[in-house]
Parts: sequence; C-alpha cells; structure tokens
Amino acid sequence: MISEKMAKEINFQIQKELFSEYLYLQMVAYFKGENLDGFAHWMEVQAKEEHNHAIKFFNYLYERNSKVELLSIEKPKNDFKNPLDVFKYAYQHELTVTKNINDLMELAKKENDYASESLLKWYVDEQVEEENSFLKIVNFLEKIKDSSNALYMLDNELSKRE
Ligand code: FEO
Repeated sequence: MISEKMAKEINFQIQKELFSEYLYLQMVAYFKGENLDGFAHWMEVQAKEEHNHAIKFFNYLYERNSKVELLSIEKPKNDFKNPLDVFKYAYQHELTVTKNINDLMELAKKENDYASESLLKWYVDEQVEEENSFLKIVNFLEKIKDSSNALYMLDNELSKRE
C-alpha cells in the first residue's frame, strides 16, 4: 500500500505523461504537414514512449492496491514556427517533466516509500536520456540554421529511430 498523497501525485503524473503523448502527437501533425516524415516518425516514437510512461505508473498504482482516476487533458500548443521552435518547446517540456519526477522522488524519500523510490529511479534515468536526445536535436537545428540540405539529412537520420 502507498500513501494517499503518493497515489494522488502519481495519478497526476499519469495525466502529465498522457499530456506529453498528446503534445508530441501534435508535433507529429506539424511535421507531417511540413513533409518532414523522418521528424514525424521520431516524434511518433516519442509519443508512444510517453504512453508507456503513463501505463507504467498506471499499472504500479494497481500493484500497490491503489487505483487510477483519469483526469482531463488540455489542448496542446499547435502553432509552431519551424522545427527548431518545436524541439525547443519539447526540450523545455521535458525539463518540466524532470522536475515533476524529482518532486515525486522527494516525496517517496520523505515517506520512506522504498518501492516508489525504486520505480521512480527508472524515470529519473529515463529523463536523463530524454533531455539529452531532445537537446542534441535542438543543438543540431541551431547549428544548421536555414540549410535545407542539412535539414533533410537530419530528417533522414531521424527516420531511423526504432
Ligand atoms: Fe515521460 Fe518525456 O517524459
């Protein structure tokens, strides 16, 4: 059993992970509209990862004899100017998610909730990976500026994400 507070906070985190999925799907739509299919593919894989993050928390609540109450999901931003704008926004979003995960970890530590701590350690590591992959693309896009050749090279690279 976990505390009511922890269950409530994880329930909120499920909403945030599902919002991430929703936001990234909107970005898929942007890239498809721009005929950047490699970018669209990369972001679709990311959206699926976010879905899995939500489900991992979802299942955990039931493993701990708690329950899920799905909350409403807000409409994501959809007026992106260019690929760099998209990836900068996504990177900032990931920083917020990292803060959310760190807050949950802090709560687990405060409550001596070792099981939640163990689960959250997975998310802490995942956030390191995610921040890094978004930031690398931000940096690349900043470097190539308006070069459409480089943009299509990156598009091809991103199409290979598994
Ligand atoms: Fe579920 Fe991208 O953090």
